[in-house]
Amino acid sequence: MRVVFLGAPGVGKGTQADRIAAQFKIVKISTGDVLREAVRNQTPLGREAKSFMDQGKLVPDSVVIGLVRDKLDEPGSANGFVLDGFPRTVPQAEELGKVLESKRVNLDRVVNFQVSREDIIKRLSGRRSCPKCQATFHLDFAPSKTGSACDRCGEVLVQRSDDRREAIEMRLKVYDEQTAPLIRYYSDQQLLTELDGSGAVATVFQNLSQVLEPYRTT
Ligand code: AP5
Ligand code: MG
Repeated sequence: MRVVFLGAPGVGKGTQADRIAAQFKIVKISTGDVLREAVRNQTPLGREAKSFMDQGKLVPDSVVIGLVRDKLDEPGSANGFVLDGFPRTVPQAEELGKVLESKRVNLDRVVNFQVSREDIIKRLSGRRSCPKCQATFHLDFAPSKTGSACDRCGEVLVQRSDDRREAIEMRLKVYDEQTAPLIRYYSDQQLLTELDGSGAVATVFQNLSQVLEPYRTT
């Protein structure tokens, strides 16, 4: 199964991608997670990406495209993948198309998560993330058991540096200008499914699983 999760910041792409990857035994490829890991490890990629990310702007296409190409070349991706947060621009989508074509495979579905702006702001401002394993929690909607430590690995949870008010506003503006056109792009290719992302995590997961079940490969 090869799927893309589209949607504004905070709609729940990462939360659902973790669950879908486990349920369908496919890999999750999250450009945001890979970039944050690089920033944390202060690699050359991380140093290049950090200022864009902190401001809520997109990292240049050439950087993220190379990164996704490497991930898709890994043997684990051959069984299928869910792309979380990529593509984010039309040039990225076109490059993805070329990479998949060279591998003689297609995308099965692109799911666009819909959540109101009001709920997005609540979700992002209450999010807490694990800097080590990237698990995501929410102070009110999905609290960790202790409130301050990661349920998965025990690390102290933090607020993402781009979950401050100004960065959230910039991310939403960038989404409207550069990523929203992908809805049309994939709808023209008859690949798009619109999904209501506003319910509880379990409800969204149930609806999403139903959409993806026909594409199960494992
Ligand atoms: P990225 O990490 O992809 O951030 P994003 O797209 O802004 O999306 P988020 O991770 O903020 O939201 P999400 O949809 O994953 O929601 P989540 O599940 O966490 O990118 C970060 C940055 O990296 C970009 O700004 C850019 O600089 C760079 N970058 C990444 N990819 C790039 C690309 N392709 N090109 C260029 N640059 C790129 O949920 C949010 C919160 O809500 C959580 O607290 C969660 O617990 C809670 N929640 C989730 N679902 C529900 C629910 N159903 N009900 C209630 N609460 C919920
Ligand atoms: Mg995410």
